[in-house]
Amino acid sequence: MTAKLFIPVILGTNREGRQTENVARYVVAALNKRQDATTQLIDVRTFVLLDSDYGIRLKDRHAEYRNNIVRADGLVLVVPEYNHGYPGSLKSVLDILLEEYHHKAVGMVGVSNGPWGGTRVIESLLPVVRTLGLVAIKLDLHFPFVQDVFTAKGVLKDKKTYAVRTAQFLDELVWMAITLRRGRKKAQNIKSIYVSQN
Ligand SMILES: Cc1cc2nc3c(=O)[nH]c(=O)nc-3n(C[C@H](O)[C@H](O)[C@H](O)COP(=O)(O)O)c2cc1C
Repeated sequence: MTAKLFIPVILGTNREGRQTENVARYVVAALNKRQDATTQLIDVRTFVLLDSDYGIRLKDRHAEYRNNIVRADGLVLVVPEYNHGYPGSLKSVLDILLEEYHHKAVGMVGVSNGPWGGTRVIESLLPVVRTLGLVAIKLDLHFPFVQDVFTAKGVLKDKKTYAVRTAQFLDELVWMAITLRRGRKKAQNIKSIYVSQN
């Protein structure tokens, strides 16, 4: 049997009172129910980041994050929309690494309190994930009006609608993650200028 995929979920904001946490926990639970994948929540709030030191020198300070990304077959980014863009805290965490992301799948989940469900933040993230060497899937998952989607205890109200959308999103991500895992093994003799890991 093929080893389960490892697909961590990055909770992409450290804002006090963030609604995005409910969404990230819901996606983690959905991944945990699957037979083909395991996951782990990576919360940008847990990172102590220096504001003057990006890139290669930070790897050693964030060994656990690095190990998780090296081990990962794919990633889910759960991201709120802030002024049509992504939170700086997410970008700072993503910028810690580079080649560890190469040739791995990424799916994006947009969160907003308005009707667009983070559509614009996902569009603004696309060039970033591409430059990191991640391969974005075509399907996104959206949580518009997020303040109405969960109970005060963080339980999803409309389970049926979101279960279908989430399953489609994760199926697509798993498809891409399996394909790229095979590709990383089978294409080892092709000299890509981009180093891939795992
Ligand atoms: C600084 C800031 C900027 C925001 N900009 C937008 C925006 O451009 N579009 C939008 O739909 N919602 C915007 N929102 C509202 C968020 O969608 C809302 O806070 C939602 O709950 C998701 O973010 P949260 O996880 O921080 O709660 C903004 C919120 C903040 C704090």
